[in-house]
Parts: sequence; structure tokens; C-alpha cells
Amino acid sequence: MMEHGGRIYHYAELSQFAVKDVIDCSANINPLGPPPGVRDALDAALDAVRYYPDSDHEEIRRVLSDRFTIDQDTILCANGATECIEVLIKGLRPNRCVVLEPAFSEYAAAAYRLSCPVVRLSLFDGERFVLPIAQLDQVLLQGDLLFINHPHNPSGTSWPLQSWIEAVFTWAKRGVSIAVDESFADFLPQEDPRTVMQHAACVQNVFVIRSATKIFSIPGLRFGFLVGTPEKMALLKAYRDPWSVNHLAQVAARVAYEDLRFTLATAVWLKQVHHDWQNSWAVDARWHVFPTSVNFFLLRFSCAKESQRIQGELMKEGIYLRPCGNFQGLGDEYVRIALLSKTQNERVFQAVSALTF
Ligand SMILES: Cc1ncc(COP(=O)(O)O)c(C=O)c1O
Repeated sequence: MMEHGGRIYHYAELSQFAVKDVIDCSANINPLGPPPGVRDALDAALDAVRYYPDSDHEEIRRVLSDRFTIDQDTILCANGATECIEVLIKGLRPNRCVVLEPAFSEYAAAAYRLSCPVVRLSLFDGERFVLPIAQLDQVLLQGDLLFINHPHNPSGTSWPLQSWIEAVFTWAKRGVSIAVDESFADFLPQEDPRTVMQHAACVQNVFVIRSATKIFSIPGLRFGFLVGTPEKMALLKAYRDPWSVNHLAQVAARVAYEDLRFTLATAVWLKQVHHDWQNSWAVDARWHVFPTSVNFFLLRFSCAKESQRIQGELMKEGIYLRPCGNFQGLGDEYVRIALLSKTQNERVFQAVSALTF
């Protein structure tokens, strides 16, 4: 069973395609990246691999502080969002981790590794993905750590902040820690910034997790960061490997977060791609798609067998979707599909169309 998408080397071997020729819709990586300056910066930084990386991440934290208007001491850098999840559980030592399913599997996986019990609630009623605020209010106890993934993977759903932020503050006062995983927030339309980052920087027990790997297309380098109050960040720092963010990742992240033109180009691309999606995937009655606010979408085929058949045929063409059978609450009839370049999206749409009756 596939735990994560993006197994590009495996796909290449399976389908006998070169890695660069595989159309990987199973990981949600920005097709525009990495930003243009990253490669040169990496070349120039290579000599410095003979030194230890900066374990305080001074330069990249300065860049992040400017870009997101938060103090440097509210930022803790890590080896991808995945390390942020682990550091939170290690450092906060919650009594329980509360996970909203279907969910990114690393919340529960990290909790298991660290012997923390997991409570799972559902945010899917079969048709819509909604935060179960009233149920959470009953379940959450002091000492819990709740993960809210917003925008939500694998559905692509985003909820207006005003519909849930007050509940987060109430739970935080109760002594519940809330980690809002915003790994896909950089893909939200720029005029609609639904981030909790500024709150996390000053409200006790509220944290934000961010990832650079999807928006800047650097999953092979790894970079993510946590935002929380300065006291909590100082505490959590002690639970992180001091050199987990290597020098090249720090340099790449610095150049990428400084490049506002790249962010703008990404927004323009995604707007166009959403428009095309509305006129293709969204108007076809042979499957059901769920509305998305980000760079991937969830699709339900008529049944699991049909879904598996189609995915099997697509593999022969070097096209990989993300089967969703191992997401709790979803089944094999669901697939998640990343939005890539216009040409690739059209190719995937045509390939799926030709195989679906
Ligand atoms: C919701 C969510 N959070 C975190 C991650 C991990 O991000 P990173 O590559 O920065 O570790 C992923 C990766 O797919 C994800 O979907």
C-alpha cells in the first residue's frame, strides 16, 4: 500500500520511463520551480559544504521574518514540514495527538514512533470536508495536540478563517496545543491569505507548520519551518537535531522565499490551471471531483475496480496518480491528482477521459 506519493524513482523503474519523462501527479510539486536563482545559488554554495551548516539559521530566518512579518525568534527551521511534526510531539509531549481523517499520514506515524496515543476524528461526511468543531470541542482536553491541516490534503479544501479561528483560541486557552499545518497555504490565491501565522507568533499553544518543498519544488533538498511564541520555539529547539537543515537547503530556501516574482508567477499559473480545470475535470459527469483551492484535487471514480484499472493503464503511459485507499475514510475509488503544467494537465485529462466510460 502506498504511504506517500512522489516515488518517482520507483515509478520510472516500473514503467521503464526516464525519471524526467514520468508525469508524476502523485506528489503536489509546483511545476514552475525551483525558482530561477536557486540553481546558481546552490552552485555557489557548494564550497561551503565543508563547514557545518548554521544551526541557528540566521539568514533564512531573517528572510522569513521579512516576508511574513513575524519576529525571527518566532521561527524554528526544520528538515521539511515532516520534521516540524516530529519536533512538536517530542517537545510538547502531548497526552494525545488528535488527527482529523483523512489526513497526511505522518501525524499519526510520528505519534506512534514517539509512543503518543492517537485519537482520530473524521472531517468527511462522504460529500464534504468540514472541520468537526462541535465534536472537537467535546473531545479536546488540556495536554492534547490537535493537527489541523489547512488547506487540507488530500481534499484541497480551504475553510474561511473566521469559521474556525475562534474555536482554536478557545482550545488554546484550555491548554490544548493546536498545530495548523499550512504546507499548501502558499498556493492559496494571494488576495485570500488564510494563514494563522501571525496568530501563532503571539498566541500561546498555537503553532503553524510551513513547507518549502511543494511551493518551491525542492522536496529533494527539504526545508520547512515552525511558527510559535518565542518561549515555545526556544523550548522546541532543544528537540531538533541542530544540523538537520543542511547548508544547501538553507541557501535554496533563502533565495526562494526572497523571490516574489516566482510567487506571482505561481499564482498566475494556478489561476489559469483552475480555470482550465473548471472547464474539463469539473464538468464531466463520469466522475466526481471535489472543489479545490490549491494545486491538486480529489476525484472519485464510479468504483474501486474502475479506479484501479484506469491507474494501471495510466502507468503504462508513465502517468502516476495518488491512489487514496490508505487515507482513512476514503477508498480505492478515490485518487488525488496534482495540477502540473498546462500541457501535462491536458495530457492527463485526455488519458483519463479515453479510459473512462
Ligand atoms: C499536509 C502535509 N504536510 C506536510 C507534508 C510534508 O512536507 P515536507 O516535504 O516539507 O516534509 C506533506 C507532504 O506531502 C503534506 O501533504
